[in-house]
Amino acid sequence: MRVVILPTEKEVSNFAAEIIANLVKTKQSSVLGLATGSSMLLIYEALISKYQLGELSFKKITTFNLDEYIGLGPNHNQSYRNYMNQQLFNHIDINHKNTYIPECFDGNYELSAANYESEIKNHGGINLQLLGVGSNGHIGFNEPTSSLKSRTRIKTLTKNTISNNARFFKESEIQPSLAITMGIGTIMKAQNILLIGLGKHKSKAVSEIIEGPLSSFCPGSALQNHENTTVILDDLAASDLKLYDYYIHTEKMRSEHM
Ligand code: GLP
Repeated sequence: MRVVILPTEKEVSNFAAEIIANLVKTKQSSVLGLATGSSMLLIYEALISKYQLGELSFKKITTFNLDEYIGLGPNHNQSYRNYMNQQLFNHIDINHKNTYIPECFDGNYELSAANYESEIKNHGGINLQLLGVGSNGHIGFNEPTSSLKSRTRIKTLTKNTISNNARFFKESEIQPSLAITMGIGTIMKAQNILLIGLGKHKSKAVSEIIEGPLSSFCPGSALQNHENTTVILDDLAASDLKLYDYYIHTEKMRSEHM
């Protein structure tokens, strides 16, 4: 696991956007795995400005999002479909038909989940998966004790996740307690993974993911078994890492010798 620690959210986001942009430039038909949440906002902003400057085109790109709430419908302002349209898709030249978000058709959750897995496979798999992290170590909506081999399916959200995400919902709005999410096994199939951690409230989860034991109690720790994962953290999110100095030193060596 490569651990990159940068002073601010802006630097973390620019670093991540640069990696994504390089992939899109090298392989115009890349398949990107995308995430939602506040940690992604500046990354998407940076990608939009690269597109507006004419540095990037998303015309041939396909995207698969990690997860979606159940019960909101795509047009709800808190649906992840709406988030993606507002924060990225509406501002770039991507073909909306090539943007996939797990959803549930006709109440048949199992079929919808199986179709999502097949669609990813039919596109040749995900080249780069972007991930945020929940304060309980979840990735996507794979809550603690999710099987490390799980595939796309329905998950019941923990109280912790519901209360962390309550800030996005108005008091009058019903907040879903179920979601459809790529599994940990699905995520692990991506060729490359970028995990973003921002803020002090993520420091415990981040240290467990990087330095803790491999355990389904901290779903993100599964990434210790992935060959090409880069974790990009701001200083606050990195503040509980035991080997903080080592990660800083490693990146310094990397910039001097690579
Ligand atoms: C939700 C999403 C996750 C995301 C997490 C953290 O639970 N399902 O994919 O990583 O929120 O979000 P934020 O970046 O807003 O802290």
